[in-house]
Amino acid sequence: MEFFLILFVVLSVLFFVLFVFFYFLHKRNLKILKGISHIISDSEENIPIIKMIDVLKEMKANLETRYSEATKSRENMRIILQNVSDGILIVDSEGKVTINNSAVCEFLGIENCVLEGKKLVEIVENYDMLNFIDKNLKEFTNGSTEISIVYPQRRYLKCDAIPVILKENEHVLIVVIKDITSERELDNFRREFISNVSHELKTPLTSIHGYAETLLDDDFKDVETVKHFLEIIENESARMSRLINDLLDLQKLEEGKTKFEFQNIDLSKIVDYVSRIVKPMADSLGVELKISCNKEIYVYGDFDRLVQAVLNLTDNAIKYTAQKESGVKSVEVSCEIINENECQIRVKDTGIGIPSDALSRLFERFYRVDKARSRKVGGTGLGLSIVKMIVEAHNGQIKVSSELGKGSEFTIILPILSKVSPKNGDSIPA
Ligand SMILES: Nc1ncnc2c1ncn2[C@@H]1O[C@H](COP(=O)(O)OP(=O)(O)O)[C@@H](O)[C@H]1O
Ligand SMILES: [Mg+2]
Repeated sequence: MEFFLILFVVLSVLFFVLFVFFYFLHKRNLKILKGISHIISDSEENIPIIKMIDVLKEMKANLETRYSEATKSRENMRIILQNVSDGILIVDSEGKVTINNSAVCEFLGIENCVLEGKKLVEIVENYDMLNFIDKNLKEFTNGSTEISIVYPQRRYLKCDAIPVILKENEHVLIVVIKDITSERELDNFRREFISNVSHELKTPLTSIHGYAETLLDDDFKDVETVKHFLEIIENESARMSRLINDLLDLQKLEEGKTKFEFQNIDLSKIVDYVSRIVKPMADSLGVELKISCNKEIYVYGDFDRLVQAVLNLTDNAIKYTAQKESGVKSVEVSCEIINENECQIRVKDTGIGIPSDALSRLFERFYRVDKARSRKVGGTGLGLSIVKMIVEAHNGQIKVSSELGKGSEFTIILPILSKVSPKNGDSIPA
């Protein structure tokens, strides 16, 4: 009896303890659920557990949508940045890259373009660029500068620094890098061109002025001297007018204002025409002129312009061959088919030749191997630039090879008729 009493008491105590334990456990869970319900409902009102599961599911779906939208817009931003032709570099206050596009790497010659988190000093080699970013980062100011770099290629870069404060007071510097190489080169080219033209015009003008002044001071007694001075004036003014004509020609060709009258032309007709013009000059300078041109090689081109190109080459060949002190003096103009698509006109001389280091610059405006010699033969330094432009307008190429003291060979390669689509479409007759 006593045993049952003890068992009853023990069981009662155990039951009581379990009851208290489960009561508190339930209360705690209720508290947690109430807390969750508050968080998700944003109000004091309790959400029933069944409903809470639905709300949580909806929240999960919302979060997933937002996450994928955030990822998408980040990815889109990255694609947009990569397609911007200017370099964009964003640097944090510690000088570490947070964002960059591939243009930055292209401009600065950085091979591995994963720059995020890297310090600027580790990736940018150009001292001026580093200095510029560093200064604007420290002072946290707007800045602008122009930097010229030589590696991986010569470029002029315009850099703008823009300080920006992001959320949570995060300071970053946006650096926009613009490639202004072509503008700068054009500026340099213009400057050089103006200086060349002024110089070329000044020389004959000074000479005309000088001789005219001498003539005025003279009492015109010595007729021979007067005649000689007048001849010089005549020569110099003719050179000025040639120069101006060449300049106008070049300008028109460059601006596409030259009207090309494209038609079927037999190359031998061009060569015949040129040879008739230059023959008297070749004879008077003691240069033998040889012509060998197969008939019926047709090209689609402008007769006058092709004559101008071949005439320029032949004129050079004769004049620079005549400059040779001794030896064979001959110029050969030939034309032939070189393959099923192309033919060529070749002007070969046994003249003074051209040094190999000058060959690559020969077609530049005003470039002359020997200025004094070119002036002596009445050159303007523009002839070969004009030839090149004419040939290119015919979808052709011009080549040169030469050996100093032995002679030069200029070759115009043109597409054979029916395989060409002339560049100057506007002026092609129907
Ligand atoms: N056949 C040639 N033989 C030697 N030098 C040449 C020949 N053709 C051109 N040159 C060189 O190329 C330069 C440029 O030629 P060009 O443009 O026709 O100008 P230029 O008016 O001086 O003749 C010349 O000044 C000359 O030095
Ligand atoms: Mg010339």
